Formats: sequence, structure tokens, C-alpha cells
Amino acid sequence: MNGPVPPRTASRVRGLISGRLLELLGEAARSAAVDLALGVPGAPETSPLLLDQACGALRSGHNQYEALAGNRELRRWIADTLPGDTDPDTELTITVGATEALTAAVLAVVDPGDEVVIFEPYYENFVNAVVLAGGVPRFVRTRPDDWRFDPAELRAAFGPRTRAVIVSTPNNPTGHMLDESEWSEIAALCGKWNAVVISDEIYSGFTFGKPHISVTEVPGLRDRGFLVGSLSKSHSVSGWRLGYLRASAGLTGIARQVHATLCAGAPGPLQEAVAKAAAQDPGFAKPSDDLRSQRDRVTGLLEKIGLECRPPDGGCYVMARIPPAVGESSDVFAHRLVREAGVLVAPGTLFHTDPAAGADHVRAAFNRSPDFLDEVAARLASFRTGASAIRL
Ligand SMILES: Cc1ncc(COP(=O)(O)O)c(C=O)c1O
Repeated sequence: MNGPVPPRTASRVRGLISGRLLELLGEAARSAAVDLALGVPGAPETSPLLLDQACGALRSGHNQYEALAGNRELRRWIADTLPGDTDPDTELTITVGATEALTAAVLAVVDPGDEVVIFEPYYENFVNAVVLAGGVPRFVRTRPDDWRFDPAELRAAFGPRTRAVIVSTPNNPTGHMLDESEWSEIAALCGKWNAVVISDEIYSGFTFGKPHISVTEVPGLRDRGFLVGSLSKSHSVSGWRLGYLRASAGLTGIARQVHATLCAGAPGPLQEAVAKAAAQDPGFAKPSDDLRSQRDRVTGLLEKIGLECRPPDGGCYVMARIPPAVGESSDVFAHRLVREAGVLVAPGTLFHTDPAAGADHVRAAFNRSPDFLDEVAARLASFRTGASAIRL
């Protein structure tokens, strides 16, 4: 007997690529694995000042809609932290995390059929935002060890249908930071083809020596660039869903219309809490100095089990290469690491459309507390990669 006909759903949803980690997460839950796969911040700790201010904001009646553009004091404080001048009234919008900022920027500029250049390996929501808008991703590979793009490949990806390019600097997952020459290549192509840059800079405070260059500082891009930022990782408040979008007044006006439709504003009391905390102690925003040692610790642990790592220039992830001698793809390796050591890393295949391209890397997050990393070290102590020659 035929069952009821299922309701029709939108075809655009079938192009979304979320949830590819689910199978591995199930296995990780069954073996009570410690998680180095996701970016959920374990460090720095959430500031007690921020927590007090959040409780205070709720109790003092900040419980209704906030202005669409966001809390004015918060916008002023964020504008001051950005390189160059930003008018907090016309050029900055507080969003529901970087996720909404990114989606609003894409929906503001991309029409169905428009092409958007995305660097691979990618953060998967870049692809999803483009797919939701009906756009067509054009992938440009970046390759180890330095994870730079090939300028000729980038030039070949741009054309008359290109509406935008999405960058992540410092990069998730590779840790690469765009330098001046890469930015000027991108700027020249955007000028030539009248495209915008959507620049995800949520890890701009997580750098290890190399200077961060923001889209707002690149000649020619200030008015054709969206800067996407977030407090999720920098302040360990990923559950508060606070991000921001900076763009020229013209682009901001359009993006705010999308923002109004998507969510009618970001959480009011939590914006108030950050604004109050910043007013009380402007330095509370400084990212942890310990991140470098956490990076080196995780890199060292992965090298000890036979993986090859190049310490990333920024961000909170390291891409570790599985040497050919191990003879396992990143999916097989990640499943075995969960089963045998109870440690979860993300297979490189998650960051590519062609799974073969990510089969020799896994990604590990290092924004974790020292105690957490002690536990990881203990669990990895007796793990052996498939390469029989490797001994601890
Ligand atoms: C590059 C990048 N952009 C955006 C996000 C999402 O940030 P938010 O929590 O602010 O939505 C993440 C989260 O891991 C990320 O790595």
C-alpha cells in the first residue's frame, strides 16, 4: 500500500552539505571521545565579567528587541577595534554570529546562477550560504604546505558571472593568512569583474607573528568588501550567537534588509552585556596569549603519533598530514583514532567537494585548556599510526 505523499521541499536544500561529521560524531559519543574536531572553544575561558553583565542585563529589563543594526555602544566599541575607519551607524551591523553575517552578505549580492569563488579546503558554511542563495560555487584549490592559491587558477575561476569571492583569514581549516600579494591579486580580479569580497576574519585575534591584513585595509576593497567577524571564539561565547558585518553604507543598507528578514536582530541582552563589559574593562577583549603554546602542544602530540604538521600562522586549527606510509585515508584514520584512542579529529575530506583531495589530512582544533590537552596526551600515548616503523 502506498503511504502518504511526503510534502515537497525546496530543491536548494538538497545542495546543502551540512552534517557530514555526523557519523563520526556518533562513534565519538559511543566511545566517550575527547573532541579535537570541532571549533567549540575550550579556551580562553568565558570572562566572568561578561557572565555577570549578562545576568545583570537580563535582570535589568533588556529583554525585548534590540535595534535592527545592533546595540549602539557595542557597534561603537567594535568599530574602534577594526582597522581603518568604520561608521558604526551606517557601516556596521551586529548579527546572529558570523554565520548569519555570512549568509546575509551572500544573500545581499548573489542572484540564482551567479558564481562565487570559494577556496578549498573550505569552511562548509561558505558553500551552504552560496547554495541557499542559488549561487554556483567555483572552487580554487589551496595546497600544502603553505596553503596559498595559484594566481593563474584564481584568474581562471573569475569571469562575467562571478559575483563574489569568499575568503577566510586566518583560515579555517588551514591556518593560512592572506598576505599583501594575495590580497592585491584578489582586489585586481574583483575590480576587473565587478565582484565583492566576503572576508571571514573571525580568527583575526588568533595570530602567531604574521600580521593580520583585513579586507578593510586592502586598496580597492574597502567599498567592495564585507568583513565578517564574531565573538564566538575570541570571547568563548559561541552559544551567545553574536557576530558582526562591516561594509560600505550602500552594501550595509542592503544587507540589513536581509538581516531584518532572517532574524530581526541579534540577542539584545547579550549585546548589552558585551557593551557594558567593554566599557568597564576595554582590555577584556584580548585573546589568550596561551594559544601559541596550545598550538605547539597539539602539533607536538600529532607529530608524536606519526602525523606531519606545519604550525599554522593563525586561527585555532592545525591541518596534519597522514604520511603515505600509514596507508590510510583521513576517514579511516579518524574512525580508528576515535575507536582506539578516544580522540576525535576531523577528516580532511569534510573540507573538499572532491573527497580524494582531503584524504591525506586531518584537522585538529587547539583552542583547548591545558587540562584537556593533558587528557588528549594520555589517550594518544599508546596509539600507533598504521606505519609500523613509528614508535613513540
Ligand atoms: C571560519 C568560520 N566562520 C564562521 C564560523 C561560525 O561562527 P559563529 O559562531 O560566529 O556563527 C566558524 C565557526 O567555527 C568558522 O570557523
